[in-house]
Amino acid sequence: MPTVHPPVDPRLDLFAEIDRLRRERKAVILAHYYQDPDIQDLADHLGDSLELAKRARDAKDAEVILFCGVHFMAETAKIVNPSKVVIIPDLEAGCSLAEQCPADRLRAWKQKHPEHHVVMYINCSAATKAESDIICTSSNAERVIRSVPAGKPILFGPDKNLGAFLIKKTGRQMDLWPGACMVHETFSSQKIAALKARNPDAKFIAHPECEEHVLQLADFVGSTSKLLEFVQKDAGKRYIVGTETGILHTMKKHAPHKELIEVPYEDRTAACQGCNACPHMKRNTLEKIYLALRDLQPRIEMAEELRKRALLPLERMLALG
Ligand code: 13P
Ligand code: SF4
Repeated sequence: MPTVHPPVDPRLDLFAEIDRLRRERKAVILAHYYQDPDIQDLADHLGDSLELAKRARDAKDAEVILFCGVHFMAETAKIVNPSKVVIIPDLEAGCSLAEQCPADRLRAWKQKHPEHHVVMYINCSAATKAESDIICTSSNAERVIRSVPAGKPILFGPDKNLGAFLIKKTGRQMDLWPGACMVHETFSSQKIAALKARNPDAKFIAHPECEEHVLQLADFVGSTSKLLEFVQKDAGKRYIVGTETGILHTMKKHAPHKELIEVPYEDRTAACQGCNACPHMKRNTLEKIYLALRDLQPRIEMAEELRKRALLPLERMLALG
């Protein structure tokens, strides 16, 4: 059951309160690039999934890790740094990819393919990680796939789009789990092609969670951090950004002279089915951050036996550098 709080006093200066509590609690605040701008700005460390997993592992001085992201990210923080109190503003902040690949179904898939190496995208639960040989993120996925001994067949999940992109990049034989990101799969290749035609000087850059027909139009494909780096270093001036809207805030800060155009998506009829904002990431608010720091809740907890099994494939990934 989600926690129900009385409303937060609207007269509170939430920024000041969060700052006070962060110091009192010896908390480090980690935030993903898909968080709202205010949350990105107050974080101690901002990053993509890989950078934040490393920040969590290396948070030696903090007593508390407040993870402003989604559940699997906070869970990863607890797996790699179990002695810390790990809190998340909203325990219900999930992920369509993590939901689509529960551990029991992965186990059944593995049983049908006992000779395969299991590579799982970090967007999955601790229980699913525990069934994997190695984890990857969108930043290091190619390196992780190349680390699997040549000739060894691979089961890859939960993201079929990232998987298809990796097959093209590495030429490896991979069976793909049929999962997808509910945000990136709403992007429309027809609308992007029309936008490109109207803006021939703009480069289209995209996250590998996008569908193949969208990635085919891209001038550059990369993880959130790699897209940010590309906009900063590239000689061009205008970019159509094919990922979640949150990253545009930090892109504008780091590359103020570049023009950024949000990616056009399919118009869907159901609410929240056609936009470039992740409804899970956007569950986190300043009020919930304040309450989480005040009450040290909701916490990420897990059985030690599960944590150890989930840690192993994460450590194999982190050992690759
Ligand atoms: P990265 O943080 O690896 O770019 O992944 C994006 C994402 O969708 C996180 O949920
Ligand atoms: Fe999951 Fe997609 Fe949201 Fe990332 S953007 S948390 S992959 S649903």
